[in-house]
Amino acid sequence: MADTNGQSGNQSGNGAAGKSALTALVAGSKEVKTRALQEMETYKNPEKTDLWKSVLRVKHDETPRSRALGVLSNVFLHLHPAKINRDAVSYSYTWGMGGISFYIYIVLVFTGALLMFYYHPSKVIAFRDILYLEHDVPFGKLLRNMHRWAAHLMVITVELHMFRVFLTGSYKKPREFNWAVGVILLVLTLLLSFTGYLLPDDQLGFWAVTVGTNMARATPMLGHDGPFGSQFGMTPFNDVRFALLGGSIVDSNALLRAYIWHCVAIPIIASTFMVVHFWRIRKDGGISGPAPMMMESEIKPLRKV
Ligand code: HEM
Repeated sequence: MADTNGQSGNQSGNGAAGKSALTALVAGSKEVKTRALQEMETYKNPEKTDLWKSVLRVKHDETPRSRALGVLSNVFLHLHPAKINRDAVSYSYTWGMGGISFYIYIVLVFTGALLMFYYHPSKVIAFRDILYLEHDVPFGKLLRNMHRWAAHLMVITVELHMFRVFLTGSYKKPREFNWAVGVILLVLTLLLSFTGYLLPDDQLGFWAVTVGTNMARATPMLGHDGPFGSQFGMTPFNDVRFALLGGSIVDSNALLRAYIWHCVAIPIIASTFMVVHFWRIRKDGGISGPAPMMMESEIKPLRKV
């Protein structure tokens, strides 16, 4: 009897526990449903989502103050920011590396344009042009070395700039989008360096590009040696390496392609992204930094009314 009673007691206990678990489950699923519906609502208004706010700026509302703000915060209507945070622009905070990277880029564009007057992107002649620059063109050696050293320096300063942004946590909201733009700029800086490498048509560049483009052979799906490459019909004559070199070996087509990427395509893309990068700094509220401080001497006495 006792056993049976115990069992039935257990059963009713189990039943109650089961019921309360069921009620909790139903309540939980209702909550999930409500949250899912709320989430769906935000998709009906995409401008309210964090992603939207991080990529595109939200409009100011229609008040006189915010209309004035609209002008002051517009990069085209007001090129310089209306006010800046002294502590955020100090070199001890920014290291000045973003600005220095940009100035080096200007030096590179300028010296690069002058180098183009003396350089032909064609096999044999290219290397002769380099020798001519080094030994005969007035200030040619200086010009070439300014371009070369500035290129090395820019890779270093861009990386230091990225390191500073990381250390100060400036990649966080609302600057996620500008961080992503920065990553693209880093890749473009490296690509500029890499494509420039082949242009002197010397042994160093030839082998660097041979190794670099051979790596492209192993690209998944797009390289003939890469995973699933053969399944996708890739051969040495139609894969991504072939597209980069304009052939299956590093030869005159590769030199021409490197030249066009280096002197035309990548500079145009990089300059466009730099404009977006600088515009975003303004739109994200200026350079990040500690909360603005005012010295006692700067505080104006209150006007009597
Ligand atoms: C061509 C390369 C680049 C140039 C010319 C450039 C230029 C600049 C400049 C002038 C600033 C203003 C503040 C400062 O100077 O530190 C800045 C800020 C910023 N940059 Fe870059 N940048 C480049 C690459 C990058 C990279 C690789 C990243 C990160 C992946 C990045 C992320 C950012 C972010 C998030 C800010 C805002 C920082 C803050 O508000 O404190 N940038 N950039």
